[in-house]
Amino acid sequence: MNKQSIELNNKTVLVTGSPGFIGANLVLRILRDNACKTVISLDNMNDYYDVSLKEYRLELINKQAETSKTNHIFIKGSIADRDLINSIFNEYKPEIVVNLAAQAGVRYSIDHPDVYIESNIIGFYNILEACRNNPVEHLVYASSSSVYGGNKKVPFSVDDKVDNPVSLYAATKKSNELLAHCYSKLYNIPSTGLRFFTVYGPAGRPDMFYYSATDKLVKGENIKIFNYGNCKRDFTYVDDIVEGVYRVMKGAPIKENGDDGLPVPPYAVYNIGGGTPENLLDYIDTLQHALVNSGILPSDYDFEAHKELVGMQPGDVPVTFADSKALEDDYGFTPKIGIKEGLQKFADWYKEYYK
Ligand SMILES: NC(=O)c1ccc[n+]([C@@H]2O[C@H](COP(=O)([O-])OP(=O)(O)OC[C@H]3O[C@@H](n4cnc5c(N)ncnc54)[C@H](O)[C@@H]3O)[C@@H](O)[C@H]2O)c1
Repeated sequence: MNKQSIELNNKTVLVTGSPGFIGANLVLRILRDNACKTVISLDNMNDYYDVSLKEYRLELINKQAETSKTNHIFIKGSIADRDLINSIFNEYKPEIVVNLAAQAGVRYSIDHPDVYIESNIIGFYNILEACRNNPVEHLVYASSSSVYGGNKKVPFSVDDKVDNPVSLYAATKKSNELLAHCYSKLYNIPSTGLRFFTVYGPAGRPDMFYYSATDKLVKGENIKIFNYGNCKRDFTYVDDIVEGVYRVMKGAPIKENGDDGLPVPPYAVYNIGGGTPENLLDYIDTLQHALVNSGILPSDYDFEAHKELVGMQPGDVPVTFADSKALEDDYGFTPKIGIKEGLQKFADWYKEYYK
């Protein structure tokens, strides 16, 4: 691996966007592995979706922290608050920063642009500035498969052109990559952006299809199937995402100078996705089986009567398909967990959580 290896033990790791869905799972993994000296969760606990889910995930983290050798500190606040970010970096001096805090969701960005600019642009800029002014060894940050927009060439490779975002959300994620490149070049900050592909799993995000469809079916409501089901998605189970992020944290782009004597930006971007896009209708079928298996819905539930085939939504794309070869080459990892196993784990969790 042509990377600067980073030992986590004795280090402080800042994870923004924990206890968000992916952030909480990453922090739980760090605590379980006793991976570092201190892990800090920073989140503004906004109510984009049910805050009680974030509180539930925070409870899981606090419980795990009781038996971990790694200390855990939770700070409630926004990455858009420059003074707060500076005070956190001054006080705790995190060596590794994982920025997952963001306003997520493609559809929400159509009607709520302000919060995307505030969290994803200003917030990310504050994180970059703090990394510039402190000895940060590696900045890892969440980008998204949405940067590929309506690209026709599949699978999506990090070498493809991604200059045509179809939502403000995608535009902010692409902007993050550009800003990170600039800071890596100017200030020699090792940074790695990760383009996540549709992440799902237990205690996931209720705004995402598998979760909202489950809620609706349980209530006896209809689910809308966009683009008449003519969509393919590269779904990625959350444990696979966490494994990828965890490995990437421990290997930073190498600092070196180019022929001009100036730093070659220690900058990289990777896809993290399953690499096996599923037809939306097959995904729904697998979800139905999982819901019946776990006893959430009866085996004679009339699923067909609760499906509405509708057109494409603005901001959405018909296909996502990750080429994760670069991640495999550099970090020896490709997501492995299939939708049958992953959706069953979600359904089992849902049954237990809402019992
Ligand atoms: N889940 C996916 O399918 C997916 C796909 C691609 C990219 N991503 C990216 O991965 C990251 C994590 O996503 P997630 O699915 O866990 O979403 P999430 O909404 O569960 O987590 C994000 C967390 O960030 C917090 N947050 C938002 N704005 C903040 C701010 N200004 N300051 C501090 N905290 C703030 C939220 O309260 C939330 O808990 C995000 O950057 C998202 O854009 C997710």
